Amino acid sequence: MTKIWFITGSSRGLGRSLTEAVLANGYKVAATARNPEALKELVEQYPDSIFPVKLDVTDKSQIAKAIESTIEKFGRIDVLVNNAGFGIMGASEGYTDEQVRSQLETNLYAPIEVTRAVLPHMRRQRSGHILQISSVGGRVGNPGLTIYQAAKFGLGGYTEALAKEVAPLGIFVTSVEPGGFRTDWARDSMSYAPHIDGYEETVGKRIALFSSDQFVPMGDPAKAAKVMIDLAENPAPPVHLILGSEAVHLIKQADINRRQEMEKWEEVSASTNADDAIDFTQTDLGRSFFSAKKS
Ligand SMILES: NC(=O)c1ccc[n+]([C@@H]2O[C@H](COP(=O)([O-])OP(=O)(O)OC[C@H]3O[C@@H](n4cnc5c(N)ncnc54)[C@H](OP(=O)(O)O)[C@@H]3O)[C@@H](O)[C@H]2O)c1
Repeated sequence: MTKIWFITGSSRGLGRSLTEAVLANGYKVAATARNPEALKELVEQYPDSIFPVKLDVTDKSQIAKAIESTIEKFGRIDVLVNNAGFGIMGASEGYTDEQVRSQLETNLYAPIEVTRAVLPHMRRQRSGHILQISSVGGRVGNPGLTIYQAAKFGLGGYTEALAKEVAPLGIFVTSVEPGGFRTDWARDSMSYAPHIDGYEETVGKRIALFSSDQFVPMGDPAKAAKVMIDLAENPAPPVHLILGSEAVHLIKQADINRRQEMEKWEEVSASTNADDAIDFTQTDLGRSFFSAKKS
């Protein structure tokens, strides 16, 4: 049976490369975009396999309509890719309320809403794979990116928990965590908070790095697309998949730092236990609950 994909943000960047690769590999796709005109060439090239759908992921009524019309057209959704998103940089105190709201709405609430709307179909099918396009920035915090990273860390937490919740229903969930990729993300698509004095060494340096001509992202979107297609065919996909060797390097270092800090403060952590406390995770019941498989 031909797999049916549903991809958000198909107009440009990673979503566009993935949509092209999905079509070139003979799958069918509901290619969603704020402006479906951007998909015109693909519609001409693959009239029977692409279903162009208008979807601004921040519009809840459009989410429901896009999913309903896809189910009407193809009968099912096998792979959902929550890709639509944008970056925003600046000092945390400097963002306008509207910037914070629109970042969280697009990069966090929207993928949760789209996922929640697709899950009833996947649950009925007892199959499906959800790819959440998070970021290296969903695993490592950095100055200048607080609000973007709040969204991406949030998406990672949602994904990890959901993966355990829906595994018994035959549904996989993977947090895809790219490092730098050659798209519009750091360029035309980037938003900035109004400038605040005092953050030159932290936020200022990060903004200068990302906007410098010398910053050439390592990642090739066509290669990411190939990996995601293979991932959707994998019978045992991971919960987290990092894309890009610099992202692996950064996350490894962050994990070491986090572990060292945790161990350094472990006694303080334990000091808050009630005097008669029993560690539930070490009882038979707790062990069977918390260490079920790889949780
Ligand atoms: N490139 C990187 O270095 C990198 C690294 C880590 C993670 N990511 C993540 O990868 C995903 C794709 O980004 P990209 O690199 O491909 O950037 P991009 O080239 O700027 O493309 C972003 C895509 O998201 C769409 N989009 C943005 N807001 C939307 C909304 N409200 N509703 C529907 N579509 C919307 C854009 O549509 P329009 O054409 O209508 O604007 C565009 O198709 C994002 O979630 C991003 O955070 C990227």
